[in-house]
Amino acid sequence: MAFGASGGMRYTARDLANRALRRNTSQQEIQLMVLTPDFDSRPVISFQHVWKTYPTGTEALRDINLVVPEGDFLFLVGPSGAGKSTLVRLLIREEKPTKGKIFVEGIELGRMKRRKLPYYRRKIGLVFQDFKLLPNLTVYENVAFALRVLGEPDRLVQSRAAEALDTVGLAGKEQTYPSNLSGGEQQRVAIARALVHAPRMIIADEPTGNLDPATAWEIMQLFLRINSRGATVVMATHNREIVDLLRRRVIAIDAGQIARDDRSGRYHDDVSKPQIRAQ
Ligand SMILES: Nc1ncnc2c1ncn2[C@@H]1O[C@H](COP(=O)(O)OP(=O)(O)O)[C@@H](O)[C@H]1O
Ligand SMILES: [Mg+2]
Repeated sequence: MAFGASGGMRYTARDLANRALRRNTSQQEIQLMVLTPDFDSRPVISFQHVWKTYPTGTEALRDINLVVPEGDFLFLVGPSGAGKSTLVRLLIREEKPTKGKIFVEGIELGRMKRRKLPYYRRKIGLVFQDFKLLPNLTVYENVAFALRVLGEPDRLVQSRAAEALDTVGLAGKEQTYPSNLSGGEQQRVAIARALVHAPRMIIADEPTGNLDPATAWEIMQLFLRINSRGATVVMATHNREIVDLLRRRVIAIDAGQIARDDRSGRYHDDVSKPQIRAQ
């Protein structure tokens, strides 16, 4: 977060919470921020001293402290192997922290019962680099599937799937199979599949990693639209152009630690640095 940057004194409760966790907040800064509280935002995600060491001994995350307010849009950036995907896997409870706690909407993920996991994962929409569509199902079936397995009535499944496909601009492609779609279209299907549950949070790991720049940009527009409707978006990405253009919150991860947290940041804090570090 660039203190005193162009936003002047527009500090909100979310900034306060973030900076308080980062320990380096001066009393003066806290007073400035308290002057302009933003009571609308509450944390939906909170990492408290989270460490992750894999059984191989790799320390993938080291003392991660992070607060994400509702409706935030944040990029996780950093070199390959920095720990971005590990952070995402902890957030969707595919992995558990070795130390520390993660709260999502007030619930500590480590204490969540196994049987509650499918319910939790439906509340968050997941989007991956490789789309993860079912090749033997049509576009419509891929999107409807997740609702069908819940035993939702046909009418509801149909209207939700149609609405989600409409949102991503794929109305008319319902009967097509994934192999007959472009990469960008396949990612739209994956996003529609995430949207059918009306998630309050979208977690995406390199969602534009397999797409050409123009398509990547279209997909980003979609995420922005979903965010503007109120969903919190957390996105790990290597896409420097998009991050620099959007100037959203950027959390830079380096060797398992948060190296930077800028409210409207760039991929690199210092543009004169060699770009080699991006990979
Ligand atoms: N399942 C795993 N077992 C052991 N080590 C892993 C595993 N997943 C990731 N790692 C290691 O953890 C570190 C962080 O990886 P990852 O979170 O995938 O980084 P990023 O997504 O930023 O590229 C790397 O050193 C990686 O090799
Ligand atoms: Mg990764």
